[in-house]
Amino acid sequence: MTLAELEKMGGEAMASATGAADLAALDQVRVGYFGRNGLIPALVKQMKDVPAEDRPAFGKRLNAWRGDLEALLEARKAELATPVTRGPAFDGSLPGRWHGTGAAHPISQVIEAVASIFAKLGFSVADGPDIENTFNNFTALNTAPHHPSMDAADTFWLDNDRLLRTQTSPVQIRVMTSHQPPVRIITPGRCYRRDTTDATHSANFHQVEGLYVDTRPVSLADLKSTLAHFAREMMGPDVGVRFRPHFFPFTEPSVEVDFSCHVCSGQGCRVCKMSGWIEIAGAGMVDPRVYRFVGYDPESVYGYAFGMGVERIAMIKYGIKDIRSLYENDVRFLGQFA
Ligand code: PHE
Repeated sequence: MTLAELEKMGGEAMASATGAADLAALDQVRVGYFGRNGLIPALVKQMKDVPAEDRPAFGKRLNAWRGDLEALLEARKAELATPVTRGPAFDGSLPGRWHGTGAAHPISQVIEAVASIFAKLGFSVADGPDIENTFNNFTALNTAPHHPSMDAADTFWLDNDRLLRTQTSPVQIRVMTSHQPPVRIITPGRCYRRDTTDATHSANFHQVEGLYVDTRPVSLADLKSTLAHFAREMMGPDVGVRFRPHFFPFTEPSVEVDFSCHVCSGQGCRVCKMSGWIEIAGAGMVDPRVYRFVGYDPESVYGYAFGMGVERIAMIKYGIKDIRSLYENDVRFLGQFA
């Protein structure tokens, strides 16, 4: 064995360690050199045949490449054990990946549908805050100071004069105190009541309020035909609409509006509590006292207002049996409305 041969073996050892494609191949290289029957122990044995004066040079050479090989094997082992994170080269001609941007929530879909039906009738969208004052939510809506709806058991009071609005009707007051008639608006939004949550009640729900006030005669017949038109546009031509006399402090006369139950086509089911009808809205002709509160002359204006429950519409339109499923953000449920 010559020094040149030893040098060559060292080069081969480094090359095979560099070329190992995986951890198993690398281990084979290690065993081939360092194992009991490996090349390095064999070379150590052959040292005694090397002439004594050449032995230190041979020993030095062997030690050097053995150390290098050991270090290289360690480094390659760490490298091969690390998963490759580098992706494929960027191909600008590939179509983009779809990241599942989702769809509008059924509550939003209903609000958008209501807004677009009323937009065609000349109604624009107005907005008001969730935090209201007593005047807008109660007083100007002709609600007596000790009306049960003002009770802390029904209303979320923040402090003496501020509350979470219990209805979207205060936006009527905001619009009329800031605009002269004619006004023709709808206003969708959240409402809050201290209701115990169950399959058909939620402490936080949505309404769409409507208000039409003009200096030309507007009648209860206009209100009825408008809401009947809305019902057919929203639910389809076969929906039944029913008006029942009712009382609201801010309308006179007042009605409640029922749609026939879409889930059972009026036959009676759990959603409509076997009645075949679902209460959708409260409505009526704006009470003259409300006009006085907002500074309109009750003798020279005519108007109607309505407020409808968005969740109620969503439940019958989509056959949703439990109102709570609308707030749980379960994509398996929401995915049905995408
Ligand atoms: N604000 C009433 C409610 O929440 C609904 C309503 C609105 C009634 C407008 C009449 C006119 O029950």
